[in-house]
Amino acid sequence: MNLTGREIVLGVTGGIAAYKSAALVSRLRHLGANVHVIMTRNATEFVSALTFQTLSANPVVTDTFQAPEYWNVEHVALAKLAEVFVIAPATANIIAKMACGIADDMLSTTVLATKAPVLLAPAMNTGMWTAAATQENIRKLKDRGILTIGPGSGMLACGDSGDGRMSEPEDIVKAVDGILNPRKDLQGLRVLITAGATRERLDPVRFLTNDSSGKMGFALAEAARDRGAEVTVICGNVSVPVPDGVRTIRIESAMDLYEAMMQNCGDQQIIIQAAAVADYRFKEIRKEKMKKQAGETCLTLELVENPDIAKATGERKLSGQILIGFAAETEHLLENAEKKLAKKNLDMIVANDVTREGAGFNVDTNIATLITREGQTEMPLQSKRSLAEAILDKALELYSAED
Ligand code: PMT
Repeated sequence: MNLTGREIVLGVTGGIAAYKSAALVSRLRHLGANVHVIMTRNATEFVSALTFQTLSANPVVTDTFQAPEYWNVEHVALAKLAEVFVIAPATANIIAKMACGIADDMLSTTVLATKAPVLLAPAMNTGMWTAAATQENIRKLKDRGILTIGPGSGMLACGDSGDGRMSEPEDIVKAVDGILNPRKDLQGLRVLITAGATRERLDPVRFLTNDSSGKMGFALAEAARDRGAEVTVICGNVSVPVPDGVRTIRIESAMDLYEAMMQNCGDQQIIIQAAAVADYRFKEIRKEKMKKQAGETCLTLELVENPDIAKATGERKLSGQILIGFAAETEHLLENAEKKLAKKNLDMIVANDVTREGAGFNVDTNIATLITREGQTEMPLQSKRSLAEAILDKALELYSAED
């Protein structure tokens, strides 16, 4: 990454995650960027302006009535100067103000005036993030082309656990780099990704499923989209919003996924199967809700095998096509993943030990080993987006080698 001479305006609003923005400024400066920080009055309660002034080596603007020290702290000048405008952390308050066009302090005024791409890194309590008003405001901003990163989930400063953690500074830096130095190395390629969990119905109110949230598949979809690919996502049940700018095919069961894959795999150059698919489905799907049987303490339900979709896709593999699968394992990780690589005729498998802290289902990070026929690459704990970029790098390398 190289940000030499790039002009970045960073808005810091009042949340405990403001301390992480100090590391963000350091990293951006280290990469050569010129960083101008605007803090809201509340932000200065969490971290002092002097911290950001020292780290950015620029004056920090804290409110509209401050006398400009240099020409370039005047708000319209900063709005014009910005090549990218980041707000991290972005509280529910600044998000709401931006959605309504309110300009009542230096930050809200400057961001309203800027023509630069705006990247928000929301951070707040889970209840505030999931509130209908915040979600509606975020949707409005996204529709206007405002970019967002995160929030991630985990333990929050308020003691709650859930969505609302600000993305890590390193991931925000990568997003900034992606905006300023867009890589379009997947331009012209069609990439199909499966994401989320299948659901196998037993009756109208019950089903068999797993913990997949769709985060890994969507991180791949977003990364491929940003790198210029035409992306199709076949998407089972997920707990996170579907990314913008990708074609989405919704499915429920493994049989639905099989049909969608068979219909769509024929014209794709790269196929990545991150969905968690049920190996079995109920032999009978009941039309009515199953009743408890009086006196029966043990219930036996019959399951039948689902098609192995990755294997079926492998059997239809076109020349030049790259097929990638995931292996979610709880034991003998590499051995089991290698067997799946061969059995499903894959070019690469992402071996995922889902027992490890910070890896696997329904978390924002992952740990994996990328296995090809040529060798293995260990990927340490990192965000799913960062792992997605590495998987796509490898996919492109394999695709180019086939040409
Ligand atoms: O969605 P997240 O919460 O972010 O979680 C991510 C994840 C843990 C789901 C993901 O990283 C992952 O490991 N996905 C694969 C889950 C899985 O089904 O693994 P498996 O080892 O059972 O299957 C191996 C491969 O065959 C997978 O590519 C799977 O999509 C595919 N498969 C499995 C069964 C089946 N009947 N048909 C298939 O195509």
